[in-house]
Formats: sequence, C-alpha cells, structure tokens
Amino acid sequence: MAIVTFTSPMMHKDKAVYAVAGDTRTILALAEQHQIPIPFECRDGNCGSCLIEVGYDDPSQRKGIMLTEKEKSKLRELGKITPEEIENAEVNDLPPRYRLACQFIARDEDVTVTFSGVPGGAD
Ligand code: FES
Repeated sequence: MAIVTFTSPMMHKDKAVYAVAGDTRTILALAEQHQIPIPFECRDGNCGSCLIEVGYDDPSQRKGIMLTEKEKSKLRELGKITPEEIENAEVNDLPPRYRLACQFIARDEDVTVTFSGVPGGAD
C-alpha cells in the first residue's frame, strides 16, 4: 500500500490517497478517481499536459522504474529531464524528478505528486 499525496495551487489543500499494491493504474487514473484535477488531454504520453513532479517521501525507497521511450522523449521535449537523469534512469534505475501522470504507475513507495496545471510549469 502506498500513500500518494497530491499537492497543487489548483487545490484548496493537499490530498493523500492510498494506492493498492499491485494496482496497475496510472497516477492520472488514481487522481481522477479521487477528483483531483490533474490536467490531461491524450492519456497516451503525447501531449505533456499531465506533467507532474514526483517527490519520494523516503528517497531510499525509490524503486526501479518504468520509463518508456515515449515518456522519456516527451520529457526531453519539455526540457524536464536532464541527460544525467536519463542515464540514472537507464543505468541505475533511479526515477527522474518529472513524470507524466498518464504514464507513471505508483508502486509501494510513498510519493508526493505536485502539479501546476501548466504544461512545463510543475516547478
Ligand atoms: S495526458 Fe497527454 S501526456 Fe499525459
């Protein structure tokens, strides 16, 4: 069981929800289920509107990640991933700071998801 905390200037206050272990839904699907207004358009890693920043509540808990070529190239296009982060993801299995909510699946680590609602503006 993971706790996913959503925070955004678009929300009155932070909201923490449980993600069930083994759940394969994306953060975007989880957000929708809990009426959390992460913007989205394509749901397919193409538009970049669902950009989120992911913080790991316990950095030592960061798990192996699934960063697809599509997500990687979109993040690169948005200027939200560095060559070091790409290398870290590929070689060391370390997640980058920014992700696409429609591609990111929370596992059993507790995370804080920040979104601004402005593509490219999660920080
Ligand atoms: S909704 Fe388009 S990239 Fe996620």
